[in-house]
Amino acid sequence: MPCTVVVGAQWGDEAKGKVVDCLAGQSDVVVRYGGGGNAGHTVMHGDEVYKLHHLPSGILSPNTLNVIADGMVIDPRKLEAEIRGLRERGCSLDGLKISYNAHVNMPYHALLDALEEDRLGNAQIGTTRQGVGPAFMDKYARVGIRTQETLDEVQFRAAIHRNLERKNPVLKAVYDHEPLSEDAVYEQCKDYGDIMRPHLADTTAILSKAARDDKKILFEGAQGAMLDIDAGTYPFVTSSHPVAGGACLGTGIGPSQIRRVIGVSKAYATRVGAGSFPTELHGDEGQRLRDRGHEYGTTTGRPRRCGWLDLAALRYAVQVAGITELALTKLWPFDTLGDLKLGVGYRYGDSTLDVWPQRTDLQDMVEPIYEVLPGWDEDLREYPDWASMPLNAQRYVKRVEELVGVPITILSVGPKREQTIMLT
Ligand code: GDP
Ligand code: IMO
Ligand code: MG
Repeated sequence: MPCTVVVGAQWGDEAKGKVVDCLAGQSDVVVRYGGGGNAGHTVMHGDEVYKLHHLPSGILSPNTLNVIADGMVIDPRKLEAEIRGLRERGCSLDGLKISYNAHVNMPYHALLDALEEDRLGNAQIGTTRQGVGPAFMDKYARVGIRTQETLDEVQFRAAIHRNLERKNPVLKAVYDHEPLSEDAVYEQCKDYGDIMRPHLADTTAILSKAARDDKKILFEGAQGAMLDIDAGTYPFVTSSHPVAGGACLGTGIGPSQIRRVIGVSKAYATRVGAGSFPTELHGDEGQRLRDRGHEYGTTTGRPRRCGWLDLAALRYAVQVAGITELALTKLWPFDTLGDLKLGVGYRYGDSTLDVWPQRTDLQDMVEPIYEVLPGWDEDLREYPDWASMPLNAQRYVKRVEELVGVPITILSVGPKREQTIMLT
């Protein structure tokens, strides 16, 4: 069974980076298959904190090959900063491979992202404004620029021309923005090829061979199932496929190779940006959870919306993301809160629902039905194994497992690698 996928089971920021880092040491290859610089994955080694946006979280594990596959959009300027930051901290980037077919997130994508969000005003999606959505729009419109095109000046200039002849009329007509000059954009981006050149490779061939050789391949999802362009809370979603199926798109690995899908979920729920969130806590209650969990975005620093765990949403994520087991994270500091609530379904008028509603208007109108469980006051970081964990914490974990229907195999009781309890 060579391939495992780690996938966000909520709205992102579930601590996928930490889980991937924990598993990377036993993996030969770690692959980012979707998203781009909108992702912010945190890995903590000792007291050192690493925030990764494009780079796979296996990059800190020596002897692991790290792949940025076709499904990602790359902002080379931000990638360069990430690479430089890691080099300055003594990390080797020798094992980094970038697909020739990944798309490039150009400066005008970020501009369009911001202009569109501003235009939408109160109706905005709350994107990370990194330009990821507009870069995927170009990909699917078949005019996007792939990494390989940045290697040659003639090709890169032609690609910029191809883009700007479409963008400039839109900039003028929709946003009343002055046109961009092809020369100026080229000047801004002309070193993109040089930044990526040492790492560019036929990653499909590399991954196909690794699978044939029975190497252990770990796919690192970005965002989460509820932000998936199809399965998520459209239009308040990202523009790619965070679900495990995304790992098969353009990586060289087909679905039959994947047997293990680890869904990552916090013990509660968070979301950044707009969109449905039935179990959201407002006011002081939400702030308490935000303070306890230090829930501020890794990429944008925005305060995350916080609420109780929503089991109907989690069951839905398990289904659409093909999750076979769960990693439950942030049990610490999900303590000292008194009684804890689990959203087990919804009430809508006189009816009850135990499934995630597909209709957006229903998602916004349903009232959660809660089951109340006793909390715990002990600091879970001091309980390094399951058997010694406070009984109420064990009861909470077991109840989540029962209500979701897949085993919980990993518990995270702190941001560090060693603050992890493996239950298998
Ligand atoms: P990702 O995008 O899914 O990788 O998650 P983020 O890195 O954006 O956000 C997760 C945050 O929680 C990071 O700051 C982690 O260092 C932190 N973290 C991970 N696991 C735990 C845990 O068990 N407890 C606490 N308190 N923090 C954790
Ligand atoms: P990681 O990988 C949390 C959200 C944005 C916004 C929506 C669309 O760290 O879990 P986009 O910039 O993708 O067009 O924004 O998706 N979003 C994330 N939320 N974690 C992320 O990544 C996210 N990436 C995008 O906040 O609501
Ligand atoms: Mg994140």
